[in-house]
Amino acid sequence: MAFAAKEFVERAVAELRAGLPAGRAVVACSGGVDSTVCAVLAHRAFGERACAVFLDTGFMREGEAEAVRDALAGLGIPLEVVPVAHRFFRDLAGIADPEAKRRQFRATFYAVLAEVLRAKGAQALVQGTIAADVRETQAAVKTHHNVLDLGPEVWPRDLLVLEPLRALLKPEVREVARYLGLPEGFVRRRPFPGPGLAVRVVGAVTPARVELLRRATRIVEEETADLPAFQAFPILLAERATGLREGTRHYGEVLVLRVVGSADALAAEPLALPWERLQALVARLLGELPALSRVLYDLTPKPPATIEWE
Ligand code: XMP
Repeated sequence: MAFAAKEFVERAVAELRAGLPAGRAVVACSGGVDSTVCAVLAHRAFGERACAVFLDTGFMREGEAEAVRDALAGLGIPLEVVPVAHRFFRDLAGIADPEAKRRQFRATFYAVLAEVLRAKGAQALVQGTIAADVRETQAAVKTHHNVLDLGPEVWPRDLLVLEPLRALLKPEVREVARYLGLPEGFVRRRPFPGPGLAVRVVGAVTPARVELLRRATRIVEEETADLPAFQAFPILLAERATGLREGTRHYGEVLVLRVVGSADALAAEPLALPWERLQALVARLLGELPALSRVLYDLTPKPPATIEWE
């Protein structure tokens, strides 16, 4: 049977109200379609009792906060940006193992959110966790940042967590987004992981390496905007490679391009890009980012790879 967005929204709003009959809620927004849909549902359910926040972790893309602020403003929902990049960089410093990094990101994420809830006198967190996030975390594929199975030392027992999208997959979330009146460009927005660039800089993160990847990400997004990709993004490897710049040896950074098609993120295929497109993209990356010495294209489907590198 086709998914019925209207019925889903009515039920989700009623369930949110039943979950928090009185008191205040904080909605964690990341700029993605899942959490933005959540913010709209919470606004319908709670009105002034809900407040939407965006944690500026330092690992977001250029213009991320502005994109979600504009999308929500169009629906009359204000967004508060919480600047916490220093906390994330401090807590992640020196952590190179991918799962350790993901677990630390998640711990800092919830510690900060718990503080935000306390500061706002809120009793509940509303978050946009979807079925794929839960499945992958429970199957021990990878720890998604928004799957909360942490002890009371991180998430206090007296604070509620409401997850209206927990049963949905991506295509259904997009239908709900469309039904709620989010702009079409936003509805079709490519997914971006909550830990963001932290899981795309392989190995330990530093502000300089994250900034390099942020610039590369903007270039890749601009150059692939017209492609029917589920996701298209670069990854910065931990290894360097020997190259040649202006006639001298250059032991530079290595970037991997990941451009995949997928319906629901549970399986994915690399796109067969025309060679000229790849060449043009590589030329732009190497021309604008002198730190690079190589760019590779990832041909691996999911499975056996995952979409993200870490
Ligand atoms: P993988 O890499 O497991 O990713 O094939 C599947 C989808 O989930 C996104 N992803 C995340 N989303 N928090 C999120 O909100 C996370 O921690 C996270 N890790 C991966 C990924 O971009 C892809 O769309």
